[in-house]
Amino acid sequence: PSIVVLISGSGSNLQALIDAQAHNQLSGKIVAVISNEPDAYGLTRAHDAGIDAVVLPHREYDSREAYDGALIKVIERHQPDIIVLAGFMRILTPRFVQRFLGKMLNIHPSLLPAYQGLNTHARVLADGASEHGCSVHFVTEELDGGPVAIQAALKIAADDTEATLKEKIHAREHLILPIAVNWFLDGRLQYSGTGATLDGIAL
Ligand code: GRF
Repeated sequence: PSIVVLISGSGSNLQALIDAQAHNQLSGKIVAVISNEPDAYGLTRAHDAGIDAVVLPHREYDSREAYDGALIKVIERHQPDIIVLAGFMRILTPRFVQRFLGKMLNIHPSLLPAYQGLNTHARVLADGASEHGCSVHFVTEELDGGPVAIQAALKIAADDTEATLKEKIHAREHLILPIAVNWFLDGRLQYSGTGATLDGIAL
């Protein structure tokens, strides 16, 4: 099975997938990495791993629809079984989501459905929350609102800051993302329209 990964930044989650692949612990092959940001460090990670690294700068398109149309074309060239959004900081159009519905997973730094959107660590701290975490979920038209496949949680310590939370959450993201990707590619995890199932059991 083939995997396309969409990124915008550092790509540490992409690296987790690359490392899993290098250790024969990934149930598919990363065939392309696509970034909307030309300077994303994740492009270097892809290149270093010998993976096709494609830059598709959103600034060169005058509408979200035009950009997503171009993105669909690039993705379709690779015929992926799964599209992994690993820090892809773009809101997707309904047309894009419909085209690949049920085949897209996103990693998000919160215990969804809590803290959808940006700046999750700061908001969690501002609320004085006692726990935090990260989620891998299917992408639907609702931003950060699709069915959750797997989460990792942690207790917030009194001395946690945005920086320490970011680091702790990243470490957990790197654990759960390859697991979810493998579940999906092994045919265990499925999108059902209303939710997700793992080995036929509703999550
Ligand atoms: C992660 O925290 C992920 O949850 C969010 O964007 C960040 C990407 O980090 N969607 P990286 O580029 O994988 O290092």
